[in-house]
Amino acid sequence: MGSINASASGQFTIGGDLTVNRLGYGAMRITGRGIWGEPDDRQEALSTLKRLPELGVNFIDTADSYGPEVSENLICEALHPYTGLVVATKGGLARHGPDIWVPLGRPEYLRQCVLMSLRRLRLERLDLWQLHRIDPKVPRDEQFDVIKQMQQEGLIRHVGLSEVKIEEIQAAQKFFPVVTVQNLYNLVTRQSEDVLDYCTRTNIGFIPWFPLASGSLAQPGSMLETIAKKNNTTPGGVALAWILKRSPVTLPIPGTSNARHLEENIAAASITLSNEDFEALDILGRREAQMTAHAI
Ligand SMILES: NC(=O)c1ccc[n+]([C@@H]2O[C@H](COP(=O)([O-])OP(=O)(O)OC[C@H]3O[C@@H](n4cnc5c(N)ncnc54)[C@H](OP(=O)(O)O)[C@@H]3O)[C@@H](O)[C@H]2O)c1
Repeated sequence: MGSINASASGQFTIGGDLTVNRLGYGAMRITGRGIWGEPDDRQEALSTLKRLPELGVNFIDTADSYGPEVSENLICEALHPYTGLVVATKGGLARHGPDIWVPLGRPEYLRQCVLMSLRRLRLERLDLWQLHRIDPKVPRDEQFDVIKQMQQEGLIRHVGLSEVKIEEIQAAQKFFPVVTVQNLYNLVTRQSEDVLDYCTRTNIGFIPWFPLASGSLAQPGSMLETIAKKNNTTPGGVALAWILKRSPVTLPIPGTSNARHLEENIAAASITLSNEDFEALDILGRREAQMTAHAI
């Protein structure tokens, strides 16, 4: 277990000056059910967070809305002053209960999101702040403009977007450099393929959320299971290794509230899939993605 280290996944430099190990950690799962309230096991959540630097994980993704507030507060308790770590957070979603997420992009609210994240994380500037969703009820230029102002004021170092199309990235880039994009993406969920290709071409970090999913590909006796056994890992480990090989700009952030699961996930940093295995999984994943899309 001593050799597990996220640095084996390679490095990516966010916004030209923040170099992180590519395999990171998503801190959404250290909250209660429905991403609401305190986690069932607070001590385990804190232990999981404290393991991150020991495992070489130096890129942590969170959001003000996880809990809400709970995830940022636990990160602060476990890891402040974050020596050598990049904590990326997000704002722009209101919470009205478990599993209820409401986009809220009024400029006054986005400014409050940033100010409150700064207070909770005990920082003077956020290294990477991401707009969780563009609110369709508010002109997007108003949302981008207040973000630009907050960057100019020094409250935010770099800006990222989440769940966006290429056209939206380009519209935001008229206001500020977009350094990361966080979209749903995994082996079997491929609707953001064009966005990932755009990010690869323009060297924008692409943060795939829900990266561990592999759908029905992980059934017993499946090719995924065979490839996992060959690489001495789990289907989830293969799913992460596949994303890491897919593009040099991917920054997967598998989430867990469990220190043992964390070690299993970070072990995937050392897995290098063969080109044959990568391509075979690619074909299977695209097929499953199409079938799922048709089923919806
Ligand atoms: N931008 C957005 O809109 C958005 C949306 C959703 C998520 N995110 C971000 O993306 C991150 C990852 O997304 P996600 O949490 O939905 O998906 P994920 O990381 O792919 O999967 C997390 C789930 O897998 C389980 N798990 C993790 N490691 C495991 C292991 N080794 N063995 C067995 N089960 C394991 C976790 O349960 P245990 O806790 O029991 O391990 C949890 O239920 C989040 O933490 C968050 O930072 C962003």
